[in-house]
Amino acid sequence: TASDPFDNAPNTDFSIPANRKWIAELVSDWKNRTFGIVPLQVDGVEATTEIVSDGHDPSRPGLKLYQYANGTPEHVESALSSAVQSQTAWEQLGTVKRAEILRNFAAVASQQRGDMIGVMMADAGKAVTESDAEISEAIDFAEYYSRSLDTAGWDDGTTSTPVGVVVVTPPWNFPYAIPAGGCLAALMAGNSVILKPAPETVFTAWHLACQLWEAGVPRDVLQFLPVEDGPVGQSLLSDPRVAVVVLTGAYATAQLFQSWRPELRLYAETSGKNSMIISSAADLDLAVKDLVRGAFGHAGQKCSATSLAIVQRDVYESPQFRNQLRDAAASLHVASAWDLSVDVTPIIRPPHDELQRGLTQLDEGEEWLLEPQMLEGNPCLWSPGIRLGVKPGSWYHRTECFGPVLGIIPVDTFEEAIQIQNNSEFGLTGGLYSLDVTEIETWRSKVEVGNGYINRTTTGAIVQRQPFGGWKNSSVGPGAKAGGPNYVAAFRNWTQVALPA
Ligand code: ALA
Repeated sequence: TASDPFDNAPNTDFSIPANRKWIAELVSDWKNRTFGIVPLQVDGVEATTEIVSDGHDPSRPGLKLYQYANGTPEHVESALSSAVQSQTAWEQLGTVKRAEILRNFAAVASQQRGDMIGVMMADAGKAVTESDAEISEAIDFAEYYSRSLDTAGWDDGTTSTPVGVVVVTPPWNFPYAIPAGGCLAALMAGNSVILKPAPETVFTAWHLACQLWEAGVPRDVLQFLPVEDGPVGQSLLSDPRVAVVVLTGAYATAQLFQSWRPELRLYAETSGKNSMIISSAADLDLAVKDLVRGAFGHAGQKCSATSLAIVQRDVYESPQFRNQLRDAAASLHVASAWDLSVDVTPIIRPPHDELQRGLTQLDEGEEWLLEPQMLEGNPCLWSPGIRLGVKPGSWYHRTECFGPVLGIIPVDTFEEAIQIQNNSEFGLTGGLYSLDVTEIETWRSKVEVGNGYINRTTTGAIVQRQPFGGWKNSSVGPGAKAGGPNYVAAFRNWTQVALPA
């Protein structure tokens, strides 16, 4: 209940034989499924359209997993007017009832953990353990946000109202937890929501919407509306009836949304170029383990992924460090998401643009410590790559690639390492590996990132304990952190009324 203290939901313990048996059966069942058309849902009504797109399983290129219906301009209009209409009753339902519905969602998500793992494996090529962690995070968002509007102790003069209609535009890399977090926060605050899923992972978002409806969110309070990029998408995102757009995606996408509607209130968590400093005083065994995990977990497709290591020269030159790092990365099992022993899963689509360059081309002075290879004839399946000799200010230092590639910049001093880490247009996550207390204190006071990690991987922020969101061009908007104390309140407008004292 609301009065119980918040506690993070545990991931499944796969060291327990019964859980291993459960997941093996589940995976072999889900692997053989294909699906029909995923409908959209506006104004409480499911619909299909002529504008149908295909959904793919990155582990099985060429296989059409499902199709989904994209909204027409009429659907956009209907979704917006229905969202405006439905919002008042949802607001009037009150905080206590809405919190109950959020906790119902947590229970539904928990009961359906297995099936959601199957959905994400198929739709996003996510490994079992990564999918499992997303479900725990979504449950955490529901439980945590359901406790987030406790204004007891505030001054009597404080009032607030929901912002109105919120459009949630999530990414494909966390196709469940991130849209869940955006929808749950906006709903908890009393807003109606239009969920516009990422085109790559519509199937996962559809299942999320179904769980929210099952939990008690009225169908016209949460609309499910895939739309194609282009004029229809633009008309939804730039409509003045939309109070807030929640985006997790590229910085360029945030800029595009703002160019469509300069007065848009946008809450965006955007790109990163995250680095880990490895000091001469690091425990190198642990540093290598966490570097590899941060760089290649979910094939490097996390906004929080470690894409650079900034390494003090004595470590950088040491054959032991290089061999250990190379061997650790080379030993990862690169395979289909359906392989239960997989470490590195396929990327969402064949590499292009930055990732193509990151995986296949070196710049002057760089060499491969480990050269990435395309495997099994699957253009989405790439083994990890490690670039040595990356220069400060070079293309790789500056550019987010979003895939299984790690670059290494050698530095002479610890101060130089911090300077290079901060010399970025982004400031999402960053790490330090060092056992030196003075270095740790210096780094804490200087690092320019939203989520900094000491002697720990840069991925896997935990709700309440590590509220998530960045600085600089890694964030657009007020910067309230997801999974933190101010997030739900950001979806209300606040008024402080005072009489003369
Ligand atoms: N919140 C996700 C992480 O920390 C992106 O890895």
